[in-house]
Amino acid sequence: MALTQELQAAFNDQITLELESAHQYLALSAWLEREGLPGMAHWMRLQSGEESEHAMKFYRFLADRGATVELGAIAKPKSEFDSVVDVFRASLAAEQRVTAAIHNIYSMATDARDFASFPLLDWFVDEQVEEESTVQQIIDDLERTQGNGHALLMLDRELGARQEDDES
Ligand SMILES: [Fe+2]
Ligand SMILES: [Fe+2]
Repeated sequence: MALTQELQAAFNDQITLELESAHQYLALSAWLEREGLPGMAHWMRLQSGEESEHAMKFYRFLADRGATVELGAIAKPKSEFDSVVDVFRASLAAEQRVTAAIHNIYSMATDARDFASFPLLDWFVDEQVEEESTVQQIIDDLERTQGNGHALLMLDRELGARQEDDES
């Protein structure tokens, strides 16, 4: 069964949104790099790579469904922040935007009875719960440091230990 034009457009927008997230995460990484927080910069860089992989999951799905992949323009990412916690809040806001977009596609796919979309979309619904919870946890930890340099350094080390295929 072919994708409806409406769903095809929504999946294409999602590819662009995931690539935009990858771009934004790289800008967050660069800011942290300059702040002398290499662990957090590393975490953001891996996050950026994960978003590119998300884009490719949608790309592959469109190609497998015989649909047309059409990439959109990517906005310039925000690159100036007031504080470290501000950077992670920007990340949470971006994730919430992605979650809303996925839920919107889910509801379109439901209306169109496009059952073949469900396994992919279910994976993304779960992934977004995970992503929002992980970033929220880091924000909570950062708020708890209350500007304590040692605590910030510990958190930087912890996030710096993230491996390529870690969940968080
Ligand atoms: Fe994503
Ligand atoms: Fe994400």
